[in-house]
Amino acid sequence: MTTALEIAECNKDRVGGVLRALREIVAAHGYVSREQEHAVAEVFNLSRAEVRGIVSFYHDLKTTPAPPLVVRICQAEACQAAGGRAFTRQAEDVLGVKLGEANKNIGLEAVYCLGLCAQGPSMMVNGRPVAYADVEALAEQMKDR
Ligand code: FES
Repeated sequence: MTTALEIAECNKDRVGGVLRALREIVAAHGYVSREQEHAVAEVFNLSRAEVRGIVSFYHDLKTTPAPPLVVRICQAEACQAAGGRAFTRQAEDVLGVKLGEANKNIGLEAVYCLGLCAQGPSMMVNGRPVAYADVEALAEQMKDR
């Protein structure tokens, strides 16, 4: 597995290299640890606080390991108009976790627009977007997990 230092070095001279490196670290390791933040800071000649600020700004730059199943439900206006709030409550019941919470197996997160506004409510299951989300679609997505 590629180390954070190696990932940072590969992105050192690229436009947007810090963010690219952090995203690649999450893709490779699942999250960005403090030690990995320090490696990025060193390679890009930034302070640890600057890198920490970037990591804390972007929701997708996780700082802890994600559970194996992460469901993100759109909470933006178009999906609310299409029944997103009711679906969110149903999903909380089905998954056994509240929006914004996680246990060791499942995380349920809010997201604000997945670009599927005309096919709402929308959700994303482990990075896979799902239009017309309902409990049946959620069950279908969980079937293979
Ligand atoms: S508002 Fe939900 S996908 Fe755009």
